[in-house]
Amino acid sequence: MPPIIAPSVLASDFANLQSEAEMLNRSQADWFHIDIMDGRFVPNLSFGLPVQAAIKKHAQKPLDVHLMIVEPQLYIEDFRKAGADIITVHYEACPHLHRVIQQIKLTGAKAGVALNPHTPVSVLEDIIADIDLVCLMSVNPGFGGQKFIENTYAKIEKLKALIVKHNSQALIEIDGGVNQENAPKLMKSGADVLVAGSFVFTAADPEKTIADLKNIAY
Ligand code: DX5
Ligand code: ZN
Repeated sequence: MPPIIAPSVLASDFANLQSEAEMLNRSQADWFHIDIMDGRFVPNLSFGLPVQAAIKKHAQKPLDVHLMIVEPQLYIEDFRKAGADIITVHYEACPHLHRVIQQIKLTGAKAGVALNPHTPVSVLEDIIADIDLVCLMSVNPGFGGQKFIENTYAKIEKLKALIVKHNSQALIEIDGGVNQENAPKLMKSGADVLVAGSFVFTAADPEKTIADLKNIAY
């Protein structure tokens, strides 16, 4: 199976979001990855609901919304209304993760859980059957353009085993530092979805870069 490609809009030109969205519509990208940062869960601010809604107006593909915020339960319905198709919350931000997953599903969106690099996949043992996606952070969340953490490959293999054991439908998404060099090994390890921000948007030809990632041999 080819990877699902989810370019991160965080690395796009915010003054030209409409043309960036149109480029992603034309390209072989599958989803728009939307990074929401609150300056509390992560030491950076990105953008919020009005900007996501503006992107939604031009996006012809699902919005994969990655909430890097504390107390995400306060905003789930708002992000759904602003066009989220998949809503991913951080394990580390949710003392009542099971409840938040049910809340996301009630809105009709798919539910994802993201894990920071230091969080073992074993914490998902009792929730894996209930979720649609696991986002493994392959950098510390908060910034684009960081170096890929090599331990991610081992985490993918452990997560895959957990998914099989529990007969879960969850997709494995890799977020941070993804490029043409590490993508084949990520796919071989069991990844389903590749998020790529700076690798796509700093390329001379983003559309071709997306096509190359989509058609990667592994
Ligand atoms: C990091 C974000 C990522 C980021 C990826 O906190 O969650 O989605 O945009 O950017 P790159 O691909 O540049 O590492
Ligand atoms: Zn992200």
